[in-house]
Amino acid sequence: MAASLIISYRVKMPIGSCFCFILFLSMSTMISYASLEVGFYQLSCPSAETIVRRVVTKAIAENPGLGAGLIRMHFHDCFVRGCDASILLDSTPDNPSEKEHPANGPSLRGLEVIDEAKAELESKCPGTVSCADIIAFAARDSARELGRIHYEVPAGRRDGNVSLRDEPSSHLPQPNSNVEQLRQMFAQKNVSLEDMVALSGAHSIGVTHCSFFSHRLHSFNSTHPQDPSMDAKFANDMKSKCPNNDQPSSSSSENQNIEVPLDVLTPQRLDNSYFKNLQNQQGLLASDQALMASPSTARMVALFARYGRLWVPKFADAMVRMGSIEVLTGSQGEIRKNCRVVN
Ligand code: HEM
Ligand SMILES: *[C@@H]1O[C@H](CO)[C@@H](O)[C@H](O)[C@H]1NC(C)=O
Ligand SMILES: *[C@@H]1O[C@H](CO)[C@@H](O)[C@H](O)[C@H]1NC(C)=O
Ligand SMILES: *[C@@H]1O[C@H](CO)[C@@H](O)[C@H](O)[C@H]1NC(C)=O
Repeated sequence: MAASLIISYRVKMPIGSCFCFILFLSMSTMISYASLEVGFYQLSCPSAETIVRRVVTKAIAENPGLGAGLIRMHFHDCFVRGCDASILLDSTPDNPSEKEHPANGPSLRGLEVIDEAKAELESKCPGTVSCADIIAFAARDSARELGRIHYEVPAGRRDGNVSLRDEPSSHLPQPNSNVEQLRQMFAQKNVSLEDMVALSGAHSIGVTHCSFFSHRLHSFNSTHPQDPSMDAKFANDMKSKCPNNDQPSSSSSENQNIEVPLDVLTPQRLDNSYFKNLQNQQGLLASDQALMASPSTARMVALFARYGRLWVPKFADAMVRMGSIEVLTGSQGEIRKNCRVVN
């Protein structure tokens, strides 16, 4: 797309402006990606990535769900104020932080894993490794543990010092978003439609609370109590796991807390079964199943469902691009001593 743009400009424009245009393009890529580097801690803290990896591997061996939590944490960090570890900051008396937002509040997992890695890193290399990089490494290590997906993480992120409770509302997609709303949310972050679909494959691990999709089972709309884009037999099975909150006999606060695996086929493997589920009309979130509603995304789903080996590198590359959103580098921000508080 960008290449064809350059070509069409090249034939129509005088040499000088063409050169400027290309220079402009390469400068803008430099700003968004080239400021991070693979092996950033090679001299300053050579064991940094090994330490994170050891802590993450141990945590996942005890509880594989933590790997899902860490991948989601990276997404929620990068989409709100960039990948700056704003998601890790605790609230202060006069400032509730991102952690208090309903998208994070009760469901964010893996915070203790980051704390443990950070404590070890501070004792080995004080004031050197940012919390934002620890999240990016931990998400990558989770993908390796749960999906045998390998990729290198460009690092050098610095930590921000602002975290506001309400910001996730305008930056994170909603579980009932349609495909156009999803596309816009990701486009705001310069994430392409294909990267968005590839990244959604992360919903092949981890859990969702019933509250995020149970309207599709019980109270879809006035003519269809059940969402017709969900397989009817599957919906009936799910009904027994997620009872109707509106029924007076059930305790709704209890039902809100029920969690079910996002992927019915292989709930603890990060693989392409998410896309097969969508083809079988077994996506749980409306936003998942929505990918089948538009021909362009449905085509990508079909490709990823059929060719797992095509999806893996697409997922890895998309994670790296997501990890470069609005990063702080150089002398911006700081290296927090404790990931939960600003220095
Ligand atoms: C496309 C828009 C997306 C929406 C609307 C969405 C929404 C959600 C929701 C509602 C949950 C359930 C949370 C809970 O009840 O605990 C969830 C879980 C999860 N999401 Fe997403 N998500 C999206 C994209 C992504 C992306 C891009 C990633 C990562 C690359 C991701 C990774 C995860 C993971 C791993 C879980 C399971 C977390 C756990 O088990 O702790 N999601 N998502
Ligand atoms: C997206 O790209 C445009 C143009 O290169 C840039 O101005 C903008 O800051 C980028 N946005 C993000 C979130 O990276
Ligand atoms: C309910 O949803 C179905 C399926 O999306 C749709 O065909 C129908 O028109 C909707 N009914 C109302 C009243 O919105
Ligand atoms: C936050 O960081 C910026 C530099 O990135 C600094 O100028 C500012 O004083 C810091 N604010 C607080 C509250 O620490």
